[in-house]
Formats: sequence, structure tokens, C-alpha cells
Amino acid sequence: MLELVPKTHDEARQGEAYAPAQADTTTYTKKFYIESYGCQMNFNDSEIVASILQEEGFGATRNYEEADLVLLNTCSIREKAEQTVRKRLSEFRRIKDANPGLLVGVLGCMAERLKTKFLEEEKLVDMVIGPDAYRTLPALIEEAETGQKAVNVLLSREETYADISPVRLDSNGVTAFVSIMRGCNNMCSFCVVPFTRGRERSRDAYSVVAEATDLFERGYREVTLLGQNVDSYYWNSPDGSETVNFANLLERVALISPLLRVRFSTSHPKDITDEVLHTMAKYENICKYIHLPVQSGSTRVLSLMNRTYTREWYIKKVERIREILPDCALSTDVITGFCTETEEDHQDTLSMMEFAKYELAYMFAYSERPGTLAARRYTDDIPEDVKKRRLNEIITLHRRHSLEGMQKDVGKTLKILVEGTSKKSEAELYGRTDQNKVVVFPKEHFKKGDYVTVTVHGCTAGTLLGKAVL
Ligand code: SAH
Ligand code: SF4
Ligand code: F3S
Repeated sequence: MLELVPKTHDEARQGEAYAPAQADTTTYTKKFYIESYGCQMNFNDSEIVASILQEEGFGATRNYEEADLVLLNTCSIREKAEQTVRKRLSEFRRIKDANPGLLVGVLGCMAERLKTKFLEEEKLVDMVIGPDAYRTLPALIEEAETGQKAVNVLLSREETYADISPVRLDSNGVTAFVSIMRGCNNMCSFCVVPFTRGRERSRDAYSVVAEATDLFERGYREVTLLGQNVDSYYWNSPDGSETVNFANLLERVALISPLLRVRFSTSHPKDITDEVLHTMAKYENICKYIHLPVQSGSTRVLSLMNRTYTREWYIKKVERIREILPDCALSTDVITGFCTETEEDHQDTLSMMEFAKYELAYMFAYSERPGTLAARRYTDDIPEDVKKRRLNEIITLHRRHSLEGMQKDVGKTLKILVEGTSKKSEAELYGRTDQNKVVVFPKEHFKKGDYVTVTVHGCTAGTLLGKAVL
């Protein structure tokens, strides 16, 4: 996804506690504390939850010790993600012992996967709420306040939370996520998401444009449109007079203002169309960056993964992207050690990486998830040490590509959007290029939200070093 450090997203951002971005002058009678794990969609869901809770008189706090309600928005994508949440829950046990009135709720994918089993396994949990049931949170809190355990893990075919305006939590005030769809209809054999998030559904195109417009009017300068498979976005107006596909939606968001950058994630190699690529080419403010998870470079493994494309198809897609968008950056997700993966298959993944030269890659060792097609059909037969060794090999290769990608930008003049003050020095700002690389440069008179043209004079492994062109 969109981190610059090649870590898993749950490692990169896990456990972030949230408080509202804007100063909020309302006085709340109660306080909630929320921590999020997993993908950007989960983080965005926490912002929807925050909005629902604020309506109920709950204000956000960063300090769980003063909270009346502690929520963990969880991820099930790999076993490790679930273990992290369990560890965190055991830490909350101590706090609950000191404050028996505290309510603890589990939200998100792990809640959906484990359902009531959670209450048997983790006695301190008072509420279990799946990703399509957040509107019922107030009623569930009321129920839990009477001492009963409260559960709602119903999945929906319609829920998109289209009318809920997310409370931007811990935001930089410049970039924001906008979910455009929920669920996933693909059945990649390794993946738990179709089970935890349910059927794919697209959000009303007008509500997407309205949310992005509102963000722009409030000073935001970049939106990232989110979905598990954005290219299959397809919205029919209720009266049947209008249909909007992903390319159309991208265009509508790009037209809000040339000053609003548009990003999106995730694209499935089987679904990304020429129409999307041409739309990207047409608008300068649609960032030339595509997250195109390959998973494996071997056609045989891709077939077992049920990814529905071959190595050759993927290569052709990359060539097409380069033809239409010569400067487009590519990022990817890779899984090593999937069931039956041979050394030859692994070499195919390495050679695919050599071919694509990803700017950014999220790399994972295969983790079997209960209930998935792979868990039912295949044996998780690659020993852990082999998975790790292969993972290390792809990480090493990717580091080289990523550094080469950074070095290629040295000497260039690039436009960046400033996101804030550099972590290392108050005298410097940082921003991102169109291709999502971080640039640090002397502050001078610039500020957050500005577009600045910089020349790049050096780089480290993860950062470009620049200076504003005056
Ligand atoms: N919808 C996106 C990705 C969702 S999950 C897509 O289709 O690409 C993010 C990434 O987690 C996946 O791309 C995959 O690389 C990884 N992942 C998913 N299930 C996994 C598993 N069981 N073990 C290891 N990695 C997994
Ligand atoms: Fe999972 Fe595949 Fe759907 Fe992505 S496209 S969420 S990997 S099933
Ligand atoms: Fe994790 Fe659920 Fe996202 S399993 S990656 S939080 S959709």
C-alpha cells in the first residue's frame, strides 16, 4: 500500500492511537480510545467509527487510561497480525482490572472472522463488531453498559457508509483516504478478506465526489481512493440513468481542482484497464503511481493462488503502463513460500522483480488463514526457514531496486506536495513527489499544503534530499 518503508502495513502502522486532527470544541460526556491495525481501509473505517461515536457524545482521546471505551480495529490478514491484537488485549486486561466500568470492543476483520468465539477466548472483551455493523455501535454500547456481551457481525450487501462524514483522525490536514467501495469478490486462495469484508459493493459516486470536494475546501490537497480492487468499481444510479466505472470516477475526482492530487489503491492486474491509464495520462493531478500486487512471478503459483492472470499477462500489463505512462512508478505485494512453491518458482518471482523494478514492495511470508481456499485445498508445506530465506532474498533485491529508483531522481527537478515538518529538523519540511517518494528540503517560507518545485541533490535509502527552486 502507500508506505515508503518496505514493511507489512500492519507492522508499519499498527497500533496507532487516534485523536481528531482538527481542534474540537464540543464538550463530550464520555471518551473513547481507538487503535487501528491492518490496511488503509481499516484506518478509514476507524474514522467512520469516530464520526458515529461523536454523534453519541463520545470524544476521542489518545490516552486509554482516561477512556470509557477502548476499541481495537483489527486485521486478520496474517497470523502475526492477530497475535499482535491478542497481546494488546492482554495489556488492556490490567487497565480493566483497575477500572471495571471500562468497555472494551473489538472491531474489524478479526471480529468478523472469530465472531462470538472471541468472547469465549478473550474474556475481557465486551463487544464484537464486524466491519459492516458500525452503525449499530451506539445500541451495542448501551447493551454492553448493562453488563451483557454485545455482538453484531452481520455482513451487508449494501452498506458503504456513504452518508457518514469521517472524522479525520491524527491527520496531517493535507492528505486523506476516501473509501470508494467495500468487500471483495475475488477469491485469491490465500486471502481472508472476502470472508471478513463480504461481497464487493461500490459507493455512490456523488458521495465520493462530495467528500473529496469537502476535503479540498477544508485545505486538503490529496485524496487516496481506496478499495481492495478499485478497478472493479462500478456504480449504477438508483434510477438506472447513469453508470460510473473507475476511470469515470477518477476523472470526476480529478476535475474537482487541479490543486487536488488524486491517488488510488489497490489495482488488480487482471482488472486495470487502458481507460484508467488514459485517464491518468490526461490529468496532471492524478499521480503517476500504481500499486499492482504481483504476489508471485510464477504462473503455476499464480494459478494455485487463483489470481486469474499469468506471468506473461502481468508483464504485458506493466509494458502497457510504461507505454501510456512512461514515468509511472510501480509498487507491489509479494508472498513467498506459498504452498508447493519451488526454488524455480521463487526464481521466477525474483526475475519478475528485476523486470518491474518496483519503487516500493510489501513482502510477506505466506501465513495460512483458516477457512480460505488454500487452507482447505493445499498443504502449507514450505518450511518456515525456507519461507524466511526466500523472503530475505526478495527483500535484499527490492532494496537494491528501491535505492536505484531513488538515485535516478538525483539531479531532477520535481514538484512536491508539502505534508509537514521533517521529523529530524524543525528547519526542514517534507513532501511527496507525484511518484510517492519523500523529499526533505529547507523550509524557507514554505508551509504544509504548498506545492513546491525542488531540485534533488542527494538521497538516502528512503528519502530524497532537495532544495526549493526559487
Ligand atoms: N486487495 C489487495 C490486497 C489485500 S491484502 C490485492 O488484491 O492485492 C494485502 C496483501 O497482503 C496482499 O496483497 C498479499 O500480498 C498479502 N497477503 C494476503 N493474505 C496473505 C496471507 N495469507 N499470507 C501472507 N500474505 C498475505
Ligand atoms: Fe484478497 Fe485477492 Fe480480494 Fe485482494 S483481490 S482482497 S488479495 S481476495
Ligand atoms: Fe486486514 Fe481486513 Fe484490511 S484483514 S488488511 S484489515 S481488509
